[in-house]
Amino acid sequence: MNGVSGRMGYRQHLLRSILAIREQGGVLLSDGTRVQVEPMLVGRSKEKLAELAAKHGIEHYTDSLDEALANPDFPIYADFLVTTKRVEAIKKAIAAGKHIYTEKPTAESFDDALELARLATAAGVKNGVVHDKLYLPGFQKLRRLIESGFFGRILSVRGEFGYWVFEGDWQPAQRPSWNYRAEDGGGIVSDMFAHWNYVIENLFGRIDSVYARAVTHIPTRVDEAGASYAATADDAAYAIFELDGGAIVQLNSSWAVRVNRKELVEFQVDGTLGSAVVGLFGCRIQPRNATPKPVWNPDLPETHDYFQDWIEVPDNDVFENGFKVQWEQFLRHVLEDAPYEFDLLAGARGVRLSEEGLRSSAEGRRIQLPAVSL
Ligand SMILES: NC(=O)c1ccc[n+]([C@@H]2O[C@H](COP(=O)([O-])OP(=O)(O)OC[C@H]3O[C@@H](n4cnc5c(N)ncnc54)[C@H](O)[C@@H]3O)[C@@H](O)[C@H]2O)c1
Repeated sequence: MNGVSGRMGYRQHLLRSILAIREQGGVLLSDGTRVQVEPMLVGRSKEKLAELAAKHGIEHYTDSLDEALANPDFPIYADFLVTTKRVEAIKKAIAAGKHIYTEKPTAESFDDALELARLATAAGVKNGVVHDKLYLPGFQKLRRLIESGFFGRILSVRGEFGYWVFEGDWQPAQRPSWNYRAEDGGGIVSDMFAHWNYVIENLFGRIDSVYARAVTHIPTRVDEAGASYAATADDAAYAIFELDGGAIVQLNSSWAVRVNRKELVEFQVDGTLGSAVVGLFGCRIQPRNATPKPVWNPDLPETHDYFQDWIEVPDNDVFENGFKVQWEQFLRHVLEDAPYEFDLLAGARGVRLSEEGLRSSAEGRRIQLPAVSL
């Protein structure tokens, strides 16, 4: 587990996934048996790793990636590094014959992302990329609605993702400063389009074209050490994705917006037979036969409460942490060849969406996205 001291590496991958799986006695296979997991922590600071290892009763840690990769007892390499360091580390791990599991985006450029997919395929190693947003309870309820035929034909999706990320001057910023420097792999397009690609592909269909406008609303921020820096990366993106089946997805992603919705992400899906508004947890629907009939009249104040027209969809399920679910899915893929679609090629499609989104913004035009293959 490389980069395990980071925000994602520690909380989501170590604590909530690997240690949780270890605590439950391992990952459950299809024949009812369990296989236990044993992490090795890899990072730059031996002291930090020793501290983490002691805190969580972990036997193995090292500040040498080469040493970790040379150890045949650890067949999977997992990467939670800052994005700029990922490609080099994954290439080494593929060369060492390890299966690969990684955070997104898999690379900074589509060429690099595709090369990783090709190298892993040529080496015959299993490979997987996080796709955590699909496991948000709200999105799982959305999937259930889609599979039940609730929407009829889906016409459009409108999404809002974002919140105010403090500039770091009078209050510390709540995200690492590298996210706001293009030269360090930052930018909301590279961060969020990698998610939007698999979310859209899996729920609504293949993305046929992208039009995006990426901007840097806040040009100067203050870093972890209190020093001012130029925010060279985009902090907001306004995008339109057209899908194979004709549906239009319009998505705003922003770290410079104040929240006036129920949750930090909210998608409204409109179909011929019904609509839904989903967030991280919640999901409200309005079927065709319970749709009110508004009449536009600017002379009269509004008396109808439109929020009252929506029905909350019940959980009807226990939703586990998405990162843990993904780890178990990948471990089963490695251990018993269970089907798995979120590979490095899928990750590369996400990186391409970011790259073409930025190109669309720079050139001011819509860009077609032909199918990608190895
Ligand atoms: N799936 C998600 O929802 C999600 C959310 C946030 C971030 N991410 C991704 O996770 C990755 C890590 O992001 P984070 O927010 O945890 O960042 P972070 O800054 O908290 O952690 C980064 C990790 O990389 C290590 N690192 C930094 N510079 C390095 C260098 N020069 N050499 C070797 N190691 C170095 C750090 O020690 C740390 O362990 C990024 O690729 C990011 O895009 C994914």
